[in-house]
Amino acid sequence: MRAARVTRLDGPDAVEVAEVDEPARDGVVVEVHAAGVAFPDALLTRGLYQYRPEPPFVLGAEIAGVVRSAPDAARVRPGDRVVGLTMLTGGMAEIAVLPPDRVFKLPDNVSFESGAGVLFNDLTVYFALSVRGRLQTGETVLVHGAAGGIGTSALRLASVLGASRVIAVVSTEEKAQIATAAGATDVVLAEGFKDAAKELTGGRGVDIVVDPVGGDRFTDSLRSLAPGGRLLVIGFTGGDIPTVKVNRLLLNNIDVVGVGWGAWAGTHPGALTEQWAALEQLLASGKLSPPEPVVYPLEEAAAAIASLENRSAKGKVVLRVRD
Ligand SMILES: NC(=O)c1ccc[n+]([C@@H]2O[C@H](COP(=O)([O-])OP(=O)(O)OC[C@H]3O[C@@H](n4cnc5c(N)ncnc54)[C@H](OP(=O)(O)O)[C@@H]3O)[C@@H](O)[C@H]2O)c1
Repeated sequence: MRAARVTRLDGPDAVEVAEVDEPARDGVVVEVHAAGVAFPDALLTRGLYQYRPEPPFVLGAEIAGVVRSAPDAARVRPGDRVVGLTMLTGGMAEIAVLPPDRVFKLPDNVSFESGAGVLFNDLTVYFALSVRGRLQTGETVLVHGAAGGIGTSALRLASVLGASRVIAVVSTEEKAQIATAAGATDVVLAEGFKDAAKELTGGRGVDIVVDPVGGDRFTDSLRSLAPGGRLLVIGFTGGDIPTVKVNRLLLNNIDVVGVGWGAWAGTHPGALTEQWAALEQLLASGKLSPPEPVVYPLEEAAAAIASLENRSAKGKVVLRVRD
């Protein structure tokens, strides 16, 4: 089978698409039509992610495709259109073998390419906003990295989960268009976002900050929160892991809340199934629009992954593995 694999830890440009053996594991065997690309893929190509597999390994945390075979106990059958999570490698390949509890039926109204971009980000954001962030109807949500994978997912989901205003923070005007298309009610540039957010909220601040970026904007994110606000720590694409002076939490009754979706899923049996059941219903009913990803062919996996690392990606990025 063809697969995108890492043979040396030299970054996205060193990712090779080559003929490799099909995986020999037990599980649900899926003919992959599309595979999602996420920031951890870029980190994995440099050995910088918290999980560090030895090369050679096939990249890819999330897929969409058709079941070729499934163990009797699985809830999917051969021929089913599905999405699945590899947690965290093996997806960017023509065949993937997944544990039965990480394969879910894909609603008929969602394409393989959109489906491949759904699980990783939407499940994280759903967990972040509803469980960790305790989002209430009518609240205001500010989203950093809003034209990225997690960002566009947050823009799509926040209003569906009750937010009345969703403020996107992006680095360029071009990315502002992506954020608006994904559902932002307001878009502001990263430079000066705190003052813009205060102005948009009449000085009150926002109830929730969704933060996949971290870095030097963190303190201004805390300053952007309304009393009782929550800052959701999701990732650190900006590079530095921020520190927080806890007097800021006390002064304004605000929370800094960790969001470790993978860790939660790993320690809460049934959590993934529950989260997908909620999302599937939203997608199938049309209440939640599926992502509209930027699609690269599998052969261009290196360029697709590099676009996340070099910050040029606009929206969720997905690989087309077969037509
Ligand atoms: N906690 C969890 O459970 C969980 C789950 C999934 C993903 N994550 C994490 O969430 C983060 C975002 O992942 P993603 O797939 O959404 O990434 P992505 O699609 O590449 O989006 C990241 C965004 O970060 C912003 N950014 C700011 N500084 C950057 C820099 N120096 N380099 C690259 N991007 C920069 C960019 O927006 P601007 O250019 O507009 O600033 C970009 O759109 C990653 O750290 C990932 O590991 C965490």
